[in-house]
Amino acid sequence: MQLHQLKDEFVLEVVNRIHPETNTSLNGLYQSSGNFCTQCEAHGFRQITYYLDRPDVLSVFTTHIIADKDKYPVLLSNGNLIKESAGKVTWHDPTSKPCYLFALVAGDFAVLEDGYTTLSGREVALKIYVEHHNISKTQFAMDSLKRSFAWDESRFNLEYDLDIYMIVAVDDFNMGAMENKGLNIFNSAYVLADPKTATDKDFINVEAVIGHEYFHNWTGNRVTCRDWFQLSLKEGLTVFRDQEFTSDLHSRSIKRIEDVNALRTFQFAEDAGPMKHPVRPESYIEMNNFYTLTIYEKGAEVIRMIHSLLGEAGFQKGMKLYFERHDGDAVTIDDFVASMSDANNFDFEPFMTWYTQPGTPTISIVSNYDEGSQRLSVEVQQLNEYDYLLPLNYALLDAEGAIFKQGVLNINQKNQTFVFDDVDSEPTASWLRGFSAPVNLLTDLDFKQKIFLVGHEEDAFSVWDNAQQIWLSLIMTPDKVDEDLFFDAIEKVIKDTEDKSLISEILTLPSERFMHQQVDVIDVFDIHQKREMVIKKILNRFESLLLETYYSLINDGNYELTPEAVGQRSLKNICLYYLSKGQHIDLANSQFNNATCMSEQIAAFNALLGTDNQYQDLAKSSFYQTFKEDVQVMDKFFAAQSTSPLANVTDIQRLMEHELFSFNTPNRLRSVIGGFSQNYVNFHNQAGYEFFTDIILKLNKTNPQIGARLVSVYNHWKRFTPELKKLQQQQLEKIIQSDDLSKDIFEIVQAALK
Ligand code: TRP
Ligand code: ZN
Repeated sequence: MQLHQLKDEFVLEVVNRIHPETNTSLNGLYQSSGNFCTQCEAHGFRQITYYLDRPDVLSVFTTHIIADKDKYPVLLSNGNLIKESAGKVTWHDPTSKPCYLFALVAGDFAVLEDGYTTLSGREVALKIYVEHHNISKTQFAMDSLKRSFAWDESRFNLEYDLDIYMIVAVDDFNMGAMENKGLNIFNSAYVLADPKTATDKDFINVEAVIGHEYFHNWTGNRVTCRDWFQLSLKEGLTVFRDQEFTSDLHSRSIKRIEDVNALRTFQFAEDAGPMKHPVRPESYIEMNNFYTLTIYEKGAEVIRMIHSLLGEAGFQKGMKLYFERHDGDAVTIDDFVASMSDANNFDFEPFMTWYTQPGTPTISIVSNYDEGSQRLSVEVQQLNEYDYLLPLNYALLDAEGAIFKQGVLNINQKNQTFVFDDVDSEPTASWLRGFSAPVNLLTDLDFKQKIFLVGHEEDAFSVWDNAQQIWLSLIMTPDKVDEDLFFDAIEKVIKDTEDKSLISEILTLPSERFMHQQVDVIDVFDIHQKREMVIKKILNRFESLLLETYYSLINDGNYELTPEAVGQRSLKNICLYYLSKGQHIDLANSQFNNATCMSEQIAAFNALLGTDNQYQDLAKSSFYQTFKEDVQVMDKFFAAQSTSPLANVTDIQRLMEHELFSFNTPNRLRSVIGGFSQNYVNFHNQAGYEFFTDIILKLNKTNPQIGARLVSVYNHWKRFTPELKKLQQQQLEKIIQSDDLSKDIFEIVQAALK
């Protein structure tokens, strides 16, 4: 639509009719379980009405909602409720905002209410709206919300600015949640939690996402993006903030291990594939395709490096200046970095490569110890086209394993040599402690030194990382690894490590997905078998120790989310994982039948579905009978089946005929189809691909955002063994030739085929 010959000031009235009841894209105004809700980021508002739909156009919104009061007793929008009568309400949001933060909800909900008094004494009403049958699962979300308010005050000195904060949970949602001003809309999976239906991981995710959306109120809403190329300005920074929130409240080291593992498994792969892009991209066809691991997770790593370079106090000085300068504005990543720079008198010019270049940098380190001069010299080299500025955390350990020197080296050139004097015997060096920069690191450490670090490093991340490197070698090149020496070290870890979550992380092998990245040609079957071989070796060596450990971890049925309790359950579950692949499937059955919480129950259920055994059918039907009313647990029920090593295409088709399957509910589609696409041995064949492509073509019509996410499974086709490579290529060509291809799917597929 174009308007011509306008006066400087005028009122434009637009009346339009839309059809939310047939909107399956879950973008704009749509229905979920009969309730109406909106999703406007990035370009959903234009699906509702004509508008200047860009993040740098800020305005004050007043929203009138008129509805049938019996069917839609709850009518919500952003800001304050200023008028209310039966079936008619008016909301007014005093803050100026871009339309991507607009939200409207109309439906029948139950509400959990509470309140929070901010540092300066503002009383904020807190409300969490859910479908009636879910009200008993909302207390944890409310507690998480209050912890988010308190944490942002204490760590960042940031307070909330309105009198009301609302969260609405819906079952049909494309992503995790949305930070609409004063009215967050959530995927119900990130709100609803109780010990019987949610795992420890689910609880921590609920808290993290509630935190994430709350933290956006300052980093995203009050200071927003000038344009969508700046997306990481709000997302990278807000992920960093939610990671710190979780780290301050739970186990910092376990959080770091999990985040780095996810980053290296998924973001590094994205950054090496056809959709690679800088943290600040330069172009897009469909903006929704750029809500990526690179923008979110690598973006958070970039912020984390700024934090490491400046320290907490310097970083907070930078944040303060950023808000002083830009509160109420739509700004750029450069504005953010300038605040950090000016507040600390630190030159970030050489750092900007992190924002402008795609790809994971590689750093190589070679050290040389000279006995005579007692000198250690270390050569650090960047093996990239461009140079990066990065903090390299390190420690030097003496022969007894004591750390005698530690610190941070600022790397800012292609080649640098660092000299350590007065080193009186050859040390073992630990590099990139805490994963201080998102790089691939090549060191000259040998196998024995890595084992030494597993036994002596104080930094839990480094212990885990060195163990992962050895597991990887043991899987890929078993002849080159002294297995006994490593297993002795692992035995010591199991027996002597306090932190049970850490033991369980160390006992977890690198995933198949992670290994796909470490090879030139992906042979899914070969990698699977090699990994299974190591599982057998672990069982051979540790069966009795795992059993003993398993039985030592008694659960009194009292559910707590402390690091200790979480650690007990995760160690117990990793023991069960191995034991059930050996002679102890009966243990899985008894854990399944006696479970007191979902963490125990789902681990046992997955173990029972992981092998052919006589308990499986009964477990499936009893799990279903117990939990069929619970949407979140049913997603686990479906995912356990689609990812089972026994599942084939016919089984997946049968799951899609299940009465609880719902094609238009992304969570359910992800649990069945997404799950199957990660089931490498069973998915990677012609039947698997053809089945999957049909789903993509259907999604192209119903929900292109989800279709584009799923079709990315084919992104790495060029790296597969010849036969699978050819089959995937055929699928991509079939998709790109189909009529009416959405921008979403087109953008991914054409990049993949290039
Ligand atoms: N901004 C949201 C967040 O990071 C995520 C988001 C972006 C989203 N686009 C979306 C959520 C589309 C749902 C649908 O929290
Ligand atoms: Zn976000």
